Formats: sequence, structure tokens, C-alpha cells
Amino acid sequence: FMLLSVASELYPLVKTGGLADVAGALPAALAAEDVAVTTLIPGYPAVLRALEGGAVVHHYDALMGGPSDVLRGRAAGLDLLVLDAPHLFARDGNPYLGPDGQDWPDNPLRFGAFARVAADIAAGRATDLIPDAVQAHDWQAALTAVYLRYDPPGRRPGVVTTIHNLAFQGIFPAYLLGALGLPAEAFALDALEYYGSISFLKGGLVFSDRITTVSPTYATEIMEAEAGMGLDGLLVTRAADLSGILNGLDTGVWDPATDPTLDTPFDARTLDRRAANKAALQRAFGLADEPRAFLLGSVGRLTEQKGMDVLLALLPELAEAGGQFALLGTGDRALEAAFSAVAARYPDRIAARIGYDEALAHRIQAGVDAFAMPSRFEPCGLTQMAALRYGAVPIVARVGGLADTVIDAGPYALAQGVATGFQFPAGSIPAMRAALTNAKALYDGDPVTWARIQRNGMATDVSWASAARHYAALFRQIAA
Ligand code: ADP
Ligand code: GLC
Repeated sequence: FMLLSVASELYPLVKTGGLADVAGALPAALAAEDVAVTTLIPGYPAVLRALEGGAVVHHYDALMGGPSDVLRGRAAGLDLLVLDAPHLFARDGNPYLGPDGQDWPDNPLRFGAFARVAADIAAGRATDLIPDAVQAHDWQAALTAVYLRYDPPGRRPGVVTTIHNLAFQGIFPAYLLGALGLPAEAFALDALEYYGSISFLKGGLVFSDRITTVSPTYATEIMEAEAGMGLDGLLVTRAADLSGILNGLDTGVWDPATDPTLDTPFDARTLDRRAANKAALQRAFGLADEPRAFLLGSVGRLTEQKGMDVLLALLPELAEAGGQFALLGTGDRALEAAFSAVAARYPDRIAARIGYDEALAHRIQAGVDAFAMPSRFEPCGLTQMAALRYGAVPIVARVGGLADTVIDAGPYALAQGVATGFQFPAGSIPAMRAALTNAKALYDGDPVTWARIQRNGMATDVSWASAARHYAALFRQIAA
């Protein structure tokens, strides 16, 4: 069975967030289900540099403004088709943003071209590789189903559009339809029209055979107005074709027993070895060297979605109570400055590293006692799964995939000995305060129960195995 995965980022070649992790890990997991995955990815410089092979399999004289090639090769163990379109993708750095931090103005054409090519491949017009089904990830790939819909009749494999984040839809002015090679009729309520503009993602959701998102809870949340971002009505009408398949974690990349970034690897039987990782982390962040101080950590994008402002408000109290906090993140300039400011106020208790650093992300998971994820909404979230696997007890907002991956240490779960972390209602400072206070009290006062929670988390299956089974079954249902 042959799947074409259409993804605008792919770990370890190019990554801005969890989408890359998912697109990079699913192929190996699906191989175990006899699904062979080839991934179509834009030819960013980093991708072209890593590409092995790279024979030209198709040529466009003019693809949205310039000559382009489709290359076939491998990189990082993945089978790739690469859209080498220099006028669109020969730009270093972030795949979506220019050096000024703003979206590239031609993003609609860049990702329109990308999906156009995906549709050509799917229809068997571009390569001799004929997919049985297509998975289009997020708005950047969402026009795949749209081009297939408006194309002349011909081969049309089933298409799954996967929502990783409904907050990013690819919303552009409607006059671009012509430049995108789409008919005027696509500007309609039951097509791409979105409050007077066009939404790439909406088009994908309307015209694909199935819709998936990355956790069961998010799948139900997006059918309601609060998380539906204006598409809840459409998603309700497509409820029969919508499902939530919980992401996994690449357990090869995230394994505390073999993690090359750790000086002191450990597993559930050698939890005491975490102490050395904690001490190393305190040193690296310039925090007071206190083995028993409750050390909280967080890694992620500093944005409204991630609720980091809620956590920020509670840091002075945490420091006054003898706790510590270590942050790794980038994003909103005001939040970056605010975290740096509170770190400057409590230098031996709070530290903020503004930046992107994969190795440090691993060392934080291995060294902190608890891991905070106060998201306002969270389609799935991968860092809380890494935390579970590394014995860092997650303290999470009860939304989306966070609700689906952490078992709250409430009275019943504690009595049953099944808790893996702490949950609180999203967006609430008092609620997060209560969760932090409970967690710290348990850590300070009941090390046996705390260690039980850690070990429960480490025993949680966060692998891709179950998700891969679900995806494989879905792809087979809609196969050409
Ligand atoms: P999202 O995709 O919404 O950003 P996820 O939790 O799904 O959230 O995935 C985020 C991924 O990016 C994880 O692999 C996480 O470790 C990584 N990450 C985020 N911010 C940083 C950072 N500043 N440094 C290193 N890794 C980061
Ligand atoms: C998005 C979501 C995140 C999810 C990731 C991978 O970036 O924000 O919750 O884990 O996609 O599916």
C-alpha cells in the first residue's frame, strides 16, 4: 500500500513544531502496517542539501511563476519527492516567515504550488509513483483535495486532510483564486469562501474524503464555536468523516535510556539517576544547586495558544515558595521579555533561555521534576508525552490532546495508583495555582507517591504503534 504524505515540514530536515515531528515519525510507524510512505516536501535549501539521489522525475516550465522540478530521493531514512521551485522555496530560515518575522507575502502561491504538485502526483500525472491514498497535513497542503476536485476527471485516490492546528488556516484574499489556477466557482460557501476571503484549510476539509485531527478530544472541541475558528459548522456537517487519532512520540528520538544528549541516561528502574540530570540542568541554567527544590520546566512556542502568560503570572509565588523554574522557548517578543525579566528578578530560582535548542529540550525533560503545559487549546501536544517518558510529571491544562494523555492525580486516580500528572481548567490562573500547589506539596511531602506517578508516566505507551494502526485502517478504507 502506497501513501503520499504531503507535509511542509519534516523532522529532522526542517521543523517549526510538532507537525514536523509527526510527518517525520509516521512513515516508520506505518511501515509496520505495510503502508509505504513517500513524503512530498518543498525544496527548501536545507532539504536540497540533505537530499541523496534527487533525480528529476518531472519538470514544469512554469509553476506559479517559475520553472520547477520534482526530484525523487532519500534523506534521513525517508523516501522523498521534493518540489524544487527556486522562485518559491530557495530561502533559508523559517519555512513560512521572512527575516523580518512576517509571513512571506507569496505564501499562498508557494503552498498553492506545493498542493498543485501533490495533486498532479496523486492523479498519476507527475511520476510513476502511484499512491493509493494521500494524507495532506495542515493548510499548507490542504489545496491538494481542492485541485483534485476541480481537475479534469481522471485518477483520484482518496484524500485525508489532517488538522494539526485549526488556528492556522491559510486565509488569503479571494482574488488569488485566478493565480492559483482555481475556478471562480471555488469562491462559494460550500467551497473555499471564508468570511469574504478564501481559506485553504476549509477547501481541504470540504473536498477530502476523510478529516483527521491529532487527538480525540480536539476532534470534539473543534465542532464547537470556542475552538472551531469559524469552521465548527462545517466540521459538524462532516462529523461522520472526522476522527481524532492521538499522535505518538518518536520513542527512538525520545528515550531516556539511550538519549545521547544526556550525561546520565536513566530508565524507570534507575530513577535515582535523574538527580544527576537535575543538578546538571540547575548548573546549565544558573539556578541554585538545591537537590530537593521543586524544579518546574517548560519548552515550547511562547504564544497565546500555549497559555504561557498564565504560568508567567505564577512564577513569583513559585520562587517565593522555594520552587525553581527553567524555560526554553521563543515566540511572542513581549512574552520573551517578560520571562527574561522575572528570571532577572529571581536569578537563582527562575531561568529563561530564549531560543530553539533540541538538545537542551531533551536535557530539560530529563532534569525537571515537573513539566508545565498551560495551553489554552492544544490539538495534541508532544512535549507532555516526552515529559511522561522522561519522568518529568506533566502539569497540563485539561484541553485537547493534553486531556487525552495525562491522568490527573485526583483522589480516585491516586487511590487506584494510576495517576500520571496533574490537570487544571485551561486559561485560569487560580486553577493553575492550585495544580502547582498540589504538585509541589506532593513532591515535597510524599516522595513515594511522587515516584509512583513518575513511573506510571514512564510506563504510558506514547509510541506511534496504535496511531499507525488507526491511520492504516483509514487509508485502506479510502484507497483508490
Ligand atoms: P506545537 O507543534 O504546537 O509547537 P508540540 O508539542 O506538538 O507543539 O511540538 C513542539 C515540538 O517542538 C516538540 O518536539 C518540542 O520539543 C519542540 N520545541 C518547541 N520549542 C522548542 C525550543 N524552543 N527548543 C527546542 N525544541 C522546541
Ligand atoms: C500542532 C499543534 C500541536 C500538535 C502538533 C502535531 O502544532 O499545535 O498540539 O501536537 O501540531 O500534531
